Amino acid sequence: MIEETVRQALRRLTAMSFLQNVLPFLAQKKPPPPPPLGSLRIASPGDILRLGVVATAGFFYSEQFMFERPFHKNFPQDTIIFFRHEVENFVKSSEHIVLVCTDKYAPDESSKTEAIIPLDNGWEPPRAGEEVIVGLGVWKLNPGSKRVGDFQNDTAPYPDLPRYEGSDLDEERAKRIEVVAGAADHKYFDGLSTMERIVVHPAYWKRSHGSTIARWGVALASIDGIDQGVLATTMGASLFTHVGYQHISETQVEGDERSPEGFSLAILRYRVA
Ligand SMILES: CC(C)(COP(=O)(O)OP(=O)(O)OC[C@H]1O[C@@H](n2cnc3c(N)ncnc32)[C@H](O)[C@@H]1OP(=O)(O)O)[C@@H](O)C(=O)NCCC(=O)NCCS
Repeated sequence: MIEETVRQALRRLTAMSFLQNVLPFLAQKKPPPPPPLGSLRIASPGDILRLGVVATAGFFYSEQFMFERPFHKNFPQDTIIFFRHEVENFVKSSEHIVLVCTDKYAPDESSKTEAIIPLDNGWEPPRAGEEVIVGLGVWKLNPGSKRVGDFQNDTAPYPDLPRYEGSDLDEERAKRIEVVAGAADHKYFDGLSTMERIVVHPAYWKRSHGSTIARWGVALASIDGIDQGVLATTMGASLFTHVGYQHISETQVEGDERSPEGFSLAILRYRVA
Protein backbone atom coordinates (compact mmCIF):
# COMPACT_ATOMS: atom_id res chain seq x y z
CA MET A 1 0.00 0.00 0.00
CA ILE A 2 2.75 2.43 1.03
CA GLU A 3 4.80 1.30 -1.97
CA GLU A 4 1.88 2.10 -4.35
CA THR A 5 1.43 5.58 -2.83
CA VAL A 6 5.17 6.27 -3.23
CA ARG A 7 5.03 5.05 -6.85
CA GLN A 8 2.06 7.32 -7.64
CA ALA A 9 3.79 10.29 -6.01
CA LEU A 10 6.94 9.61 -8.06
CA ARG A 11 4.87 9.38 -11.25
CA ARG A 12 3.22 12.73 -10.44
CA LEU A 13 6.61 14.30 -9.72
CA THR A 14 8.03 13.02 -13.01
CA ALA A 15 5.04 14.39 -14.93
CA MET A 16 5.34 17.74 -13.15
CA SER A 17 9.04 17.95 -13.78
CA PHE A 18 8.40 17.24 -17.51
CA LEU A 19 5.82 20.02 -17.64
CA GLN A 20 8.06 22.45 -15.75
CA ASN A 21 11.39 21.73 -17.43
CA VAL A 22 10.94 20.16 -20.84
CA LEU A 23 7.84 21.89 -22.24
CA PRO A 24 9.14 25.45 -21.83
CA PHE A 25 12.37 24.39 -23.52
CA LEU A 26 10.47 22.89 -26.44
CA ALA A 27 8.31 26.01 -26.69
CA GLN A 28 11.34 28.32 -26.74
CA LYS A 29 13.53 26.18 -28.98
CA LYS A 30 15.70 28.43 -31.12
CA PRO A 31 15.24 28.15 -34.89
CA PRO A 32 18.10 26.88 -37.06
CA PRO A 33 20.64 29.51 -38.16
CA PRO A 34 19.45 31.79 -40.97
CA PRO A 35 21.14 31.62 -44.41
CA PRO A 36 24.67 33.09 -44.45
CA LEU A 37 24.56 36.81 -45.20
CA GLY A 38 27.53 36.65 -47.59
CA SER A 39 27.98 40.11 -49.07
CA LEU A 40 24.75 41.36 -47.46
CA ARG A 41 24.55 42.93 -44.01
CA ILE A 42 21.87 43.91 -41.52
CA ALA A 43 20.92 47.61 -41.82
CA SER A 44 21.67 49.87 -38.89
CA PRO A 45 20.33 53.35 -37.99
CA GLY A 46 23.52 54.81 -39.51
CA ASP A 47 22.34 53.61 -42.95
CA ILE A 48 18.99 55.42 -42.93
CA LEU A 49 20.11 58.66 -44.65
CA ARG A 50 21.72 56.74 -47.51
CA LEU A 51 18.78 54.36 -47.84
CA GLY A 52 16.44 57.32 -48.43
CA VAL A 53 18.56 58.22 -51.45
CA VAL A 54 18.75 54.64 -52.76
CA ALA A 55 14.99 54.09 -52.39
CA THR A 56 14.10 57.37 -54.11
CA ALA A 57 16.52 56.72 -57.00
CA GLY A 58 15.27 53.15 -57.55
CA PHE A 59 11.57 53.15 -56.67
CA PHE A 60 11.12 56.07 -59.10
CA TYR A 61 10.87 53.32 -61.76
CA SER A 62 8.05 51.38 -60.10
CA GLU A 63 4.45 51.94 -61.25
CA GLN A 64 3.44 52.54 -57.64
CA PHE A 65 5.88 55.46 -57.27
CA MET A 66 4.77 57.05 -60.54
CA PHE A 67 1.11 56.73 -59.55
CA GLU A 68 1.28 57.92 -55.95
CA ARG A 69 4.10 60.54 -56.12
CA PRO A 70 3.15 62.73 -59.11
CA PHE A 71 4.72 65.80 -57.44
CA HIS A 72 8.12 64.22 -56.75
CA LYS A 73 9.96 66.48 -59.20
CA ASN A 74 8.63 69.57 -57.41
CA PHE A 75 9.29 68.24 -53.92
CA PRO A 76 12.16 65.75 -54.25
CA GLN A 77 13.46 66.28 -50.73
CA ASP A 78 10.05 65.21 -49.40
CA THR A 79 10.33 61.87 -51.19
CA ILE A 80 13.76 61.22 -49.67
CA ILE A 81 12.43 62.11 -46.21
CA PHE A 82 9.45 59.77 -46.70
CA PHE A 83 11.70 56.81 -47.50
CA ARG A 84 14.03 57.64 -44.59
CA HIS A 85 11.09 57.49 -42.19
CA GLU A 86 9.83 54.28 -43.75
CA VAL A 87 13.24 52.60 -43.48
CA GLU A 88 13.66 53.86 -39.91
CA ASN A 89 10.39 52.16 -38.95
CA PHE A 90 11.53 48.90 -40.54
CA VAL A 91 14.94 49.07 -38.81
CA LYS A 92 13.25 49.66 -35.44
CA SER A 93 10.74 46.85 -35.92
CA SER A 94 11.68 43.50 -34.37
CA GLU A 95 9.29 41.74 -36.78
CA HIS A 96 11.15 42.90 -39.88
CA ILE A 97 14.49 41.98 -41.41
CA VAL A 98 16.28 44.80 -43.20
CA LEU A 99 19.33 43.85 -45.28
CA VAL A 100 21.55 46.03 -47.45
CA CYS A 101 24.07 45.36 -50.20
CA THR A 102 27.05 47.48 -51.17
CA ASP A 103 29.11 48.31 -54.24
CA LYS A 104 31.82 50.79 -55.20
CA TYR A 105 30.55 54.37 -55.07
CA ALA A 106 30.12 56.01 -58.48
CA PRO A 107 30.11 59.83 -57.95
CA ASP A 108 27.92 60.29 -61.05
CA GLU A 109 25.25 57.89 -59.71
CA SER A 110 22.52 60.58 -59.56
CA SER A 111 22.82 61.08 -63.33
CA LYS A 112 21.73 57.40 -63.77
CA THR A 113 18.28 57.98 -62.29
CA GLU A 114 15.45 60.22 -63.44
CA ALA A 115 14.50 60.76 -59.80
CA ILE A 116 15.71 64.08 -58.42
CA ILE A 117 18.34 63.70 -55.71
CA PRO A 118 19.23 67.17 -54.38
CA LEU A 119 22.92 67.52 -53.49
CA ASP A 120 22.11 68.95 -50.06
CA ASN A 121 19.92 65.99 -49.06
CA GLY A 122 21.79 65.45 -45.76
CA TRP A 123 23.79 62.36 -46.75
CA GLU A 124 27.57 62.76 -47.09
CA PRO A 125 28.90 60.68 -50.02
CA PRO A 126 32.16 58.74 -49.66
CA ARG A 127 35.13 59.01 -52.04
CA ALA A 128 34.84 57.44 -55.50
CA GLY A 129 35.32 53.67 -55.38
CA GLU A 130 34.62 53.32 -51.65
CA GLU A 131 31.97 50.84 -50.55
CA VAL A 132 28.50 52.37 -50.37
CA ILE A 133 25.02 50.96 -49.87
CA VAL A 134 23.29 50.43 -53.21
CA GLY A 135 20.38 48.11 -52.40
CA LEU A 136 17.80 47.25 -49.78
CA GLY A 137 15.63 44.24 -48.94
CA VAL A 138 12.92 44.15 -46.26
CA TRP A 139 10.97 41.09 -45.11
CA LYS A 140 8.21 40.69 -42.56
CA LEU A 141 8.54 37.54 -40.46
CA ASN A 142 5.59 35.14 -40.38
CA PRO A 143 3.23 35.53 -37.40
CA GLY A 144 4.62 33.66 -34.38
CA SER A 145 8.12 33.38 -35.89
CA LYS A 146 10.79 32.50 -33.34
CA ARG A 147 13.17 34.82 -35.19
CA VAL A 148 11.46 38.00 -33.96
CA GLY A 149 14.18 40.35 -32.65
CA ASP A 150 17.07 38.27 -34.07
CA PHE A 151 17.92 40.82 -36.77
CA GLN A 152 18.17 44.05 -34.77
CA ASN A 153 21.33 46.08 -35.35
CA ASP A 154 20.93 49.29 -33.34
CA THR A 155 24.64 50.04 -33.33
CA ALA A 156 24.46 53.74 -34.22
CA PRO A 157 22.19 56.59 -33.11
CA TYR A 158 19.07 57.20 -35.16
CA PRO A 159 19.22 60.34 -37.36
CA ASP A 160 17.14 63.34 -36.44
CA LEU A 161 14.70 63.28 -39.38
CA PRO A 162 12.54 66.27 -40.33
CA ARG A 163 8.78 65.75 -40.45
CA TYR A 164 7.48 64.30 -43.73
CA GLU A 165 5.23 66.97 -45.27
CA GLY A 166 3.73 64.76 -48.02
CA SER A 167 3.93 67.44 -50.73
CA ASP A 168 5.19 64.93 -53.32
CA LEU A 169 2.26 62.57 -52.70
CA ASP A 170 -1.27 62.15 -54.06
CA GLU A 171 -2.82 61.12 -50.75
CA GLU A 172 -6.03 59.77 -52.24
CA ARG A 173 -4.11 57.47 -54.59
CA ALA A 174 -1.78 56.36 -51.80
CA LYS A 175 -4.82 55.35 -49.70
CA ARG A 176 -6.28 53.45 -52.67
CA ILE A 177 -3.04 51.47 -53.02
CA GLU A 178 -2.99 50.72 -49.30
CA VAL A 179 -6.53 49.30 -49.43
CA VAL A 180 -5.83 47.11 -52.50
CA ALA A 181 -2.50 45.87 -51.08
CA GLY A 182 -4.03 45.21 -47.64
CA ALA A 183 -6.86 43.15 -49.17
CA ALA A 184 -4.44 41.07 -51.29
CA ASP A 185 -2.16 40.54 -48.31
CA HIS A 186 -5.09 39.32 -46.22
CA LYS A 187 -6.45 37.05 -48.94
CA TYR A 188 -3.23 35.44 -50.18
CA PHE A 189 -0.52 35.79 -47.53
CA ASP A 190 -2.25 34.90 -44.26
CA GLY A 191 0.28 33.18 -41.96
CA LEU A 192 3.20 33.61 -44.40
CA SER A 193 6.34 35.68 -44.30
CA THR A 194 6.33 38.48 -46.86
CA MET A 195 8.90 40.29 -48.96
CA GLU A 196 8.00 43.93 -48.25
CA ARG A 197 10.53 46.04 -50.19
CA ILE A 198 13.32 45.49 -52.67
CA VAL A 199 15.18 48.25 -54.44
CA VAL A 200 18.58 48.83 -56.01
CA HIS A 201 19.96 52.23 -57.07
CA PRO A 202 19.76 52.32 -60.91
CA ALA A 203 23.47 53.17 -61.23
CA TYR A 204 24.15 49.64 -59.91
CA TRP A 205 21.38 47.65 -61.66
CA LYS A 206 22.05 44.39 -63.52
CA ARG A 207 24.97 43.40 -61.31
CA SER A 208 22.93 40.73 -59.49
CA HIS A 209 22.37 42.82 -56.34
CA GLY A 210 18.59 42.38 -56.61
CA SER A 211 18.85 38.62 -57.14
CA THR A 212 21.28 38.27 -54.22
CA ILE A 213 18.81 40.01 -51.90
CA ALA A 214 15.76 38.08 -53.16
CA ARG A 215 17.63 34.74 -53.00
CA TRP A 216 18.52 35.31 -49.34
CA GLY A 217 14.80 35.72 -48.62
CA VAL A 218 13.79 32.50 -50.34
CA ALA A 219 16.65 30.64 -48.62
CA LEU A 220 15.25 31.79 -45.26
CA ALA A 221 11.76 30.66 -46.31
CA SER A 222 13.14 27.21 -47.19
CA ILE A 223 14.96 26.85 -43.84
CA ASP A 224 11.84 27.89 -41.93
CA GLY A 225 9.51 25.76 -44.07
CA ILE A 226 7.19 28.77 -44.48
CA ASP A 227 6.04 30.02 -47.89
CA GLN A 228 6.80 33.64 -48.71
CA GLY A 229 4.51 36.12 -50.45
CA VAL A 230 5.17 39.30 -52.36
CA LEU A 231 3.07 41.95 -54.09
CA ALA A 232 5.14 43.18 -56.98
CA THR A 233 5.23 45.85 -59.65
CA THR A 234 6.61 44.90 -63.09
CA MET A 235 10.36 44.97 -62.40
CA GLY A 236 9.94 43.22 -59.07
CA ALA A 237 7.72 40.49 -60.57
CA SER A 238 10.36 39.68 -63.16
CA LEU A 239 13.08 39.44 -60.52
CA PHE A 240 10.98 37.31 -58.16
CA THR A 241 10.03 34.86 -60.91
CA HIS A 242 13.75 34.67 -61.71
CA VAL A 243 14.52 33.45 -58.14
CA GLY A 244 11.68 30.89 -57.98
CA TYR A 245 8.45 32.62 -56.98
CA GLN A 246 5.23 31.55 -58.73
CA HIS A 247 2.70 33.97 -60.15
CA ILE A 248 -0.62 33.49 -58.32
CA SER A 249 -2.81 36.36 -59.48
CA GLU A 250 -3.05 40.07 -60.27
CA THR A 251 -4.82 42.85 -58.44
CA GLN A 252 -5.76 46.21 -59.92
CA VAL A 253 -5.36 49.70 -58.48
CA GLU A 254 -8.05 51.75 -60.20
CA GLY A 255 -7.03 54.94 -62.00
CA ASP A 256 -8.69 58.35 -62.06
CA GLU A 257 -9.26 61.22 -64.53
CA ARG A 258 -5.55 62.14 -64.74
CA SER A 259 -4.36 58.54 -65.01
CA PRO A 260 -7.34 56.38 -66.05
CA GLU A 261 -5.41 53.13 -66.46
CA GLY A 262 -4.19 52.84 -62.84
CA PHE A 263 -1.76 49.95 -62.48
CA SER A 264 -1.71 46.30 -61.51
CA LEU A 265 0.21 44.46 -58.83
CA ALA A 266 1.32 40.87 -59.31
CA ILE A 267 0.69 38.46 -56.44
CA LEU A 268 3.53 35.96 -56.18
CA ARG A 269 4.31 33.15 -53.77
CA TYR A 270 7.48 31.21 -53.11
CA ARG A 271 6.51 27.66 -52.20
CA VAL A 272 8.92 25.76 -50.00
CA ALA A 273 7.56 22.32 -50.86
C1 LIG B 1 14.01 45.03 -59.48
C2 LIG B 1 15.40 45.46 -59.06
C3 LIG B 1 15.52 45.40 -57.54
C4 LIG B 1 16.44 44.50 -59.68
O1 LIG B 1 17.72 44.87 -59.23
P1 LIG B 1 19.07 44.43 -59.98
O2 LIG B 1 20.18 44.61 -59.02
O3 LIG B 1 19.18 45.10 -61.29
O4 LIG B 1 18.78 42.88 -60.19
P2 LIG B 1 19.72 41.77 -60.86
O5 LIG B 1 20.93 42.39 -61.43
O6 LIG B 1 19.91 40.70 -59.88
O7 LIG B 1 18.80 41.19 -62.01
C5 LIG B 1 17.98 41.99 -62.81
C6 LIG B 1 17.99 41.44 -64.20
O8 LIG B 1 19.27 41.66 -64.77
C7 LIG B 1 19.85 40.42 -65.21
N1 LIG B 1 21.26 40.49 -64.89
C8 LIG B 1 21.85 40.16 -63.74
N2 LIG B 1 23.18 40.35 -63.82
C9 LIG B 1 23.42 40.82 -65.07
C10 LIG B 1 24.59 41.22 -65.76
N3 LIG B 1 25.81 41.14 -65.21
N4 LIG B 1 24.48 41.70 -67.02
C11 LIG B 1 23.23 41.77 -67.57
N5 LIG B 1 22.12 41.39 -66.97
C12 LIG B 1 22.20 40.92 -65.74
C13 LIG B 1 19.12 39.38 -64.45
O9 LIG B 1 19.13 38.15 -65.15
C14 LIG B 1 17.77 39.97 -64.34
O10 LIG B 1 17.05 39.82 -65.51
P3 LIG B 1 15.57 39.29 -65.50
O11 LIG B 1 14.86 40.09 -64.42
O12 LIG B 1 15.04 39.62 -66.85
O13 LIG B 1 15.66 37.86 -65.19
C15 LIG B 1 15.75 46.88 -59.59
O14 LIG B 1 15.56 46.91 -60.97
C16 LIG B 1 14.94 47.99 -58.96
O15 LIG B 1 15.31 48.50 -57.91
N6 LIG B 1 13.82 48.39 -59.61
C17 LIG B 1 13.01 49.53 -59.13
C18 LIG B 1 12.32 49.24 -57.83
C19 LIG B 1 11.32 48.12 -57.99
O16 LIG B 1 10.58 48.07 -58.95
N7 LIG B 1 11.31 47.22 -56.98
C20 LIG B 1 10.42 46.10 -56.98
C21 LIG B 1 9.16 46.45 -56.29
S1 LIG B 1 8.13 45.03 -56.16
